[in-house]
Amino acid sequence: MKRLLAALSPAGPARRWSRRAPADPWSALFGQIAAHALVVLVVTGILLAVFYRPDMARSAYEGPYRPLKGVVVSEAYASTVRLSLEVRGGLLLRQVHHWATLIFVAAICLKLVRMFFTGAFRRPRLPLWSIWVLLLVLGMAAGLTGTILPDDMLSGGSLALIQGVLQSIPLVGTRLTFWLFDGDFPGEAIVPRFYWLHTVVLPVAIIGLFVLRHRLVRRHGRPRLPAAATRGPHWLRSLPVAAGPALFFGTCGVLVLLGAFAQINPVWLLGPYRPGEITAGAVPDWYMGFLDGAVRLMPGWEFEVAGRTLTVAVLVPALIIPGAFFTFLAAYPLIERRLTGDREPHHELDRPRDAATRTGVGAGALAFYGLLWAAAANDQIAVRFHLSVNDVTDFLRAAVLAGPVFAFVLTRWFCLGLLERASHEAAHGRETGRIVRTPEGGYIEITEPVRDGRRPASLEPSGSSGTRPGITPTG
Ligand code: HEM
Repeated sequence: MKRLLAALSPAGPARRWSRRAPADPWSALFGQIAAHALVVLVVTGILLAVFYRPDMARSAYEGPYRPLKGVVVSEAYASTVRLSLEVRGGLLLRQVHHWATLIFVAAICLKLVRMFFTGAFRRPRLPLWSIWVLLLVLGMAAGLTGTILPDDMLSGGSLALIQGVLQSIPLVGTRLTFWLFDGDFPGEAIVPRFYWLHTVVLPVAIIGLFVLRHRLVRRHGRPRLPAAATRGPHWLRSLPVAAGPALFFGTCGVLVLLGAFAQINPVWLLGPYRPGEITAGAVPDWYMGFLDGAVRLMPGWEFEVAGRTLTVAVLVPALIIPGAFFTFLAAYPLIERRLTGDREPHHELDRPRDAATRTGVGAGALAFYGLLWAAAANDQIAVRFHLSVNDVTDFLRAAVLAGPVFAFVLTRWFCLGLLERASHEAAHGRETGRIVRTPEGGYIEITEPVRDGRRPASLEPSGSSGTRPGITPTG
């Protein structure tokens, strides 16, 4: 229990490490926000479980919400509506729980982005990287199973997608669907099954990973910021170390404000799930957007193989693309180690420009993800900009193939340019724009020497070890 609290405690490891070396503030910030959101999820989840019933038995709705009077609904749906409209504070609890999910997954994504671009996944921190990738997958699974519990139209849409994906798997797809749904779609078994997965299995696995992460951070410490990035006000650099408890209460406060003022998943408006019906008002959570986009972009291809139909239209976007994406993410440190032959331990982070190829790969991956995400809104884009939805889809199909390559080339070129400028400045000094005329009639530009490729020496406190200003002939 002590260990568990330490793993989830605000700024625990950051505080310890900060005495020895400058902490890595932004990584710590995202990791801590994820941990705080998890605390909120567990607390609100336990309270929700008191009122929610994972039961698919159907009966006519008899509650106070008049538009639903007499409609046949499952007990799972009725209990969620009751929780929202009759239990005091119930709607706030539900909304805080849902918002905490969105923030939890977003914080994990940002943490991964930050670790990737600074090379924080290199030896000896590869296990930490794997833990965060796994946390992302489990966090998304927890969000998806949670969304299915209320048995409303949104939950039905997710279930239909799961059914379609399973059925598209060659050879075993039908059996898997039969096994998961217990023979009938959506059937009576799926919600109780997902309930235990959601409330016990996934949270225990996620908390276990946080405990493991805490141990690893204690063992290896936090990596140092690159020397060139330690500029900026001191209070900002040590923000998470100083603001641990404040960050916790700040995260809780923001989540409660969001839960109080920003409506999310109004199940009574969306209505109970009925197979064959669809609602225009329900969209999946943001982290499922890239899957939705991939399904929308994929042409409806089907092939006959050995007398059987192979439906790649669902298999590729909903299973192969995310599978390949997450495998690539998890395996990237090994790929980089193999390609660069760098097996040394690293305790200092890279500046993104110092690893131009890696930064380019990261930009390409972000472009790929972002374009799939944009594709999930192809209908909205078409409506807002008065375009044909087919044209928007065709454009996004081309963009999703060309965009990552373009982002890779452009970002790498930009990083190499920054590096070249830094080495030029280190050799010749930084241009000041001050041109002076020599007695011989020529022109020279005054340059300022830079120290370690960062601060002009003239800005260093007097007595610092900067070299003396110089002059560079122009023209
Ligand atoms: C591990 C992180 C967790 C995530 C990401 C998560 C996510 C979600 C989401 C997105 C929903 C749908 C909310 C809605 O209806 O708008 C939900 C519902 C629910 N969650 Fe969680 N949850 C987590 C942990 C837990 C825990 C630990 C419990 C209980 C011990 C729990 C209990 C419930 C219950 C009972 C519901 C159904 C009630 C409702 O939909 O309003 N959750 N969860």
